Amino acid sequence: MFTRLLGNRLKNAAGDKKEEKKLMKQLDMNMLPEHIAIIMDGNGRWATKKGMPRSFGHRAGVNALREVVKLCVELGIKYLTVYAFSTENWKRPRDEINMLMELLVEYLNKEIEELCANNVKINPMGIISELPPQAQEAVTMAVQRTKGNTGMVFNVALNYGGRAELVQAVRRIGEKIQRGELQVEDVDETVVNNHLYTAGQPDPDLLIRPSGDYRISNFLLWQLAYTEFWLTSTMWPDFGRIDLLKALLDFQGRERRFGGLVHN
Ligand code: IPE
Ligand code: IPE
Ligand code: MG
Repeated sequence: MFTRLLGNRLKNAAGDKKEEKKLMKQLDMNMLPEHIAIIMDGNGRWATKKGMPRSFGHRAGVNALREVVKLCVELGIKYLTVYAFSTENWKRPRDEINMLMELLVEYLNKEIEELCANNVKINPMGIISELPPQAQEAVTMAVQRTKGNTGMVFNVALNYGGRAELVQAVRRIGEKIQRGELQVEDVDETVVNNHLYTAGQPDPDLLIRPSGDYRISNFLLWQLAYTEFWLTSTMWPDFGRIDLLKALLDFQGRERRFGGLVHN
């Protein structure tokens, strides 16, 4: 029984590798998105379906994240933005919030060496000062340790809300006007961009949302203006290299017009 199970598992893994190779071959390495954004959703439902506590799903979600980060680095993606905790997620039970914060600390501490080895630079997005002290410390450590890295920028949205981001941008711009450092007439899209957590970065080319839900959930409201969406019913813990490759291939078949016309 055990050997049969193990045998099946090995067979599946071999099949996955084969499919991954096939997909990878189809990929045009010159047409990869510069910036990928992901709403890592579906951990709870994935666990519940297995008769397990939601925390089990969050743990499995971290493994999925690890794999996706790895593949993005391998592919040379320049910016990866992941939604880890929203400004609305505080509505959840205290226990789940605490667990998520502990998981964040654990993830950062465990992964920091690997992230540094891969030249990844961590850029937290959100109101970090409202996180529990230990989470703040881990985030500060991760920023410090990776600040000199020149490879992929890894934006981690923590206590992030698209509306909150815009509110803080408006406030900071208002303060500059008040101090006379900026004129109202000079406020344009570039100025707004420069006051977002993604200042200096290109907008996401591709947004991936697993879990079968079709909404933005307050993610990157400004930045997603012309982003291509790729939605899947796969839950985040099951999202793997093959799913990311499928999303990338689909993206490469899209016609992006940005409101203009495409002439053949
Ligand atoms: C995403 O999974 C993780 C966070 C929001 C922190 P969920 O916890 O939202 O899982 P579902 O959507 O309930 O399945
Ligand atoms: C979005 O997922 C936030 C994160 C993945 C961190 P949610 O589960 O919070 O979103 P809703 O409630 O389904 O819109
Ligand atoms: Mg959810």
